[in-house]
Amino acid sequence: MHMNKKNFRVGLGVAGGIAAYKAVEVLRLLQKSGCEVRVAMTKHATEFIQPLTFRALTESYVLVDDYAPENPDPIAHINFSQTIDLLLIVPATANIIAKFAGGIADDFLSSTFLASTAPVLIAPAMNTTMWENPATRRNIKQLKKDGVYFVKPIAGELACKTVGTGKLEDVENIVAQALRLLNSRFQIPNSKSENNDLNNLQSEKILLTVGGTREAIDPVRFISNHSSGKMGFAIAEAAQTRGASVTVVAGVTSVKPPENVKVIRAISAEEMYQAVMKELPNATVFIGAAAVSDYRPRNIADTKIKKTNQDFLTLELKKTPDILLNVSTNRHEKLLVIGFAAETNNVAGYAKSKMEKKNLDLVVANDITKKGAGFNTDTNIATILIKNSRKKIELPLMSKRAMADKILDEIMKLRKIN
Ligand code: PMT
Repeated sequence: MHMNKKNFRVGLGVAGGIAAYKAVEVLRLLQKSGCEVRVAMTKHATEFIQPLTFRALTESYVLVDDYAPENPDPIAHINFSQTIDLLLIVPATANIIAKFAGGIADDFLSSTFLASTAPVLIAPAMNTTMWENPATRRNIKQLKKDGVYFVKPIAGELACKTVGTGKLEDVENIVAQALRLLNSRFQIPNSKSENNDLNNLQSEKILLTVGGTREAIDPVRFISNHSSGKMGFAIAEAAQTRGASVTVVAGVTSVKPPENVKVIRAISAEEMYQAVMKELPNATVFIGAAAVSDYRPRNIADTKIKKTNQDFLTLELKKTPDILLNVSTNRHEKLLVIGFAAETNNVAGYAKSKMEKKNLDLVVANDITKKGAGFNTDTNIATILIKNSRKKIELPLMSKRAMADKILDEIMKLRKIN
């Protein structure tokens, strides 16, 4: 049973960035979901958007400065912070993140952060260089350690006309993550099962393969693919946020894994296979998001292969173990087995045949020829197919993080049936 959504009270903190106008949309969506929202803004945020907009929409005084003579509540940061179920910051600038990380309380919003015991969800938006600056990285790491949640910014064209990571995540996904956090926090355990909610993955142990494998040819060369690990890590992060315990077996990745997730590195398909089989007995869900090489060089040369006068060089390849197939074949009764299919043509057809051949419960098929889908993008487009069902769930272009939640929603629906 849940606390009624109408009871959720969200403190929406707006910091001074170009994306401040998107906080209005977040506010509307939260209200539509039944949340009561009160807004706090930094002084700089009011340069981008007027407090009056939020005041009209919330019918409440918008807090900017506790000391302002018109402020109806003399100890507003205490009263505000202690009557909210979630503090949500949209957008969060590098500055407000730094203040939170350093415990500085020199305005209403930063004082509220310090005075609040509610969970905090931060949706940053800033220029790529500021996002990547070691100071920002350090502050985010510290806040994550302190238990603060983040909705990662995505890559795209930024207000400064550059392209890179720093764009605010889609407002729908920010709100979805806020609601998930609220739902999982305020769930009242049911006597029958703790796992009666799609959002709550507390009793799941998720084992995931992520990234690409690297198959050695000689000491300096290898066969690999373009997988970055973004899709798999997004699933790991989403699952962890929803309370699952997550183990990732990661091949080669170009992005960092989420924090608080156990990561086992396994570079070749063989290493990945060994690591997965070792971890499998503890898992309740297996997700194969890695792009595993189907073949490896039959012999790995001990020394660097030298160039000769011959125009052609033949490399003999040998099949690697099919990790997903082995997992599915050795599954215990409760294990759900989920595969991915990266296809360039006849996507649904090949995905369906993979699902049947490998006896999967669910397959996520991505058409990697589509713009914004597949390898090394922050977004994806996919179709979910489910065992013994003719239903196809089309997932249109969205961030991999948003897709991760959609995939987990479908997995949890299967758990309810099984
Ligand atoms: O990492 P990103 O850059 O974010 O890109 C994401 C992705 C495109 C890699 C991911 O979304 C994806 O589609 N992963 C599966 C890619 C793939 O190798 O597909 P496949 O059709 O070759 O394999 C089908 C399934 O079998 C996959 O679940 C794969 O992990 C698994 N497999 C394949 C071969 C093998 N030897 N062992 C396996 O477990």
